[in-house]
Amino acid sequence: MKGIIQTHGGNVNKEAQELNCSIEHLLDSSSSLVPFDPPFHLRRCLHKCINSRTLRDYPDREQNNLINAISSWHCIDPEMILPGNGAAELFTWAAKDAGKKGISGLPSPGFSDYSRALRCWDASYFEFSLPLEWSNETPQVFPLKPNSNVIWITNPHNPTGQLWSQKSIRDLIKRYSLIICDEAFLPLVPNGEKQSLIPLVKTNPNLIVIRSLTKLFGIAGLRLGYAISYPDRIDRWKKLRDPWPVNGLALEAGTILMNERFLMQKWLNKVHSWVTKEGQWMYKNLSLINGIEPQHSSCNFLLIKGDNSLIPLRNYLAKEKILLRDCRSFKALGENWLRIGLQSQKNNNRIIKKIRKFIS
Ligand SMILES: Cc1ncc(COP(=O)(O)O)c(C=O)c1O
Repeated sequence: MKGIIQTHGGNVNKEAQELNCSIEHLLDSSSSLVPFDPPFHLRRCLHKCINSRTLRDYPDREQNNLINAISSWHCIDPEMILPGNGAAELFTWAAKDAGKKGISGLPSPGFSDYSRALRCWDASYFEFSLPLEWSNETPQVFPLKPNSNVIWITNPHNPTGQLWSQKSIRDLIKRYSLIICDEAFLPLVPNGEKQSLIPLVKTNPNLIVIRSLTKLFGIAGLRLGYAISYPDRIDRWKKLRDPWPVNGLALEAGTILMNERFLMQKWLNKVHSWVTKEGQWMYKNLSLINGIEPQHSSCNFLLIKGDNSLIPLRNYLAKEKILLRDCRSFKALGENWLRIGLQSQKNNNRIIKKIRKFIS
């Protein structure tokens, strides 16, 4: 392994090149997607699309079917919804508005894409430090009120996995000109939906909530997310963006996923019981390994902190074709930290066995 620092998990192509192997042989625990194959009805829908006009025709610019499906799932007005080419595209638009409001406060350690989005518009920002020790309480009180015009919140937080209570964020709404809340991982958190800010958007024009389907369905390659905010803002963004930001396959896929309520609920139940069972198992087994301290998490990834640098462990695991998230790109963390995305029971066992082998 060369000494390249990841700024994002899931760079499987690059890692496979460095390790001189095929991506099929890698267990990617550096990005935090569900480990299941996408649902059957989604795969069937994509298969159908390939043999239909969806591939040939331009996608629906109005995105009406998908917007209506999201609207009925969340019980919010269609005018308040904008599907995007992953949450990442929507951060870029949110950042444009953030820049106009003044200085953004970004949590640190935190997801690097917010600063990338702000830099697109030469928008100002500073990072505020989250405490690096936290309890197993779920949800937790969002601990800080940075002195900025705009605040970016990730709920649950990446990379720590802390779930913030809706109440503690609600208390911040009046304080800031704009609140951008990234709920990319929230649907994966057992009982997490209660902490969502989506129900508050209707009465708070200074709120933007961003969701992603990437993690929940393991479809990072499709690129699909959505923003929920006041109709004026959504309308303005619609007029500024590319004519076809969400491709036809993603539009069809999102529509079927959000429309099939029974299958959605079944999938959520499966994901929540996996997060609960494997999260507890992983935490317990990591706690038994000397020199490593697992951190409490509400969702499908957790941080581990080493007494010493964990980069040798990461490099050893990479040679064993297991990728963990190097945390050196999170300024507040550094080389003593790694992030592990939960996998199937069999693969979590494999990760633990290899860590034990390295440590002993
Ligand atoms: C907290 C968080 N939000 C959003 C994203 C990106 O989501 P999408 O794939 O929908 O662009 C990521 C990806 O790692 C993430 O960690």
